[in-house]
Amino acid sequence: MSRTILVANWKMHKTIEETKLFLEVLARDLSERTSDRGTGEIWIAPPFTAIAAAAQFIREQGLTVRIGAQNVAGQPQGAFTGEVSAAMLKEVGASFCIIGHSERRTLFQENDALIHEKIRMALAQDLLPLLCIGESSVEREQGRVKEVLRSQLAAALRGLTSRDVEKLCIAYEPIWAIGTGKTATPELAEEAHAVIRDFLVQEWGRDVAVKIPLLYGGSVKAENIVSLLKQPDIDGALIGGASLDPQLFVQLIRCVHT
Ligand code: 13P
Repeated sequence: MSRTILVANWKMHKTIEETKLFLEVLARDLSERTSDRGTGEIWIAPPFTAIAAAAQFIREQGLTVRIGAQNVAGQPQGAFTGEVSAAMLKEVGASFCIIGHSERRTLFQENDALIHEKIRMALAQDLLPLLCIGESSVEREQGRVKEVLRSQLAAALRGLTSRDVEKLCIAYEPIWAIGTGKTATPELAEEAHAVIRDFLVQEWGRDVAVKIPLLYGGSVKAENIVSLLKQPDIDGALIGGASLDPQLFVQLIRCVHT
């Protein structure tokens, strides 16, 4: 895996106006450094309401930034008040979709079966699924990290062909590290990423497994991103808090895409 992917998950932050202000700063920075960006990729997941405006801005400015969603419905259409389908997201310019974030699992009771359906919906619309998995602090204390990760993967990816799995991106986000300032050490994160890679190798073979980017998420910041990304199975980062301020996000990009 040669490319490094930095994904901003804005969660429930930023209006359309604030999104545009952020992207203007990012665009200025990227245009100053077109020649030294290396092989890095930048993805941004604004709230649903700002996706169309963000995608339009990126298109007009000719930026190589992917815009995506933070969630998608588990059904293609129908009487599901408040849900947004994969086709609707695609139509407004999303090209990827975060699925199974721990906040969706814990605060909105999303279970493995629903997460599996969401992945199927995204794949059917050619929306790249960014599947999030990760253990709680209790599960870690109980020594169940490997078991939890393998079971989340098995449920979410059940029955997918190699062609489907190759389109995925997976983020390891230990719940105890999200928004807490407690980052996993590079060694702990690598251990978990190796569990994920091994699972993919076992199910779909090494050629497929190495094509799937594995991202780390949980209190990523400029001080820790470089050491995390040095690990062999960490191909990028999923960033919450530090992706909200354009200056901080640009600082992260500079740490990585040199
Ligand atoms: P923080 O970077 O704020 O810990 O959030 C991580 C996250 O949940 C990204 O999806």
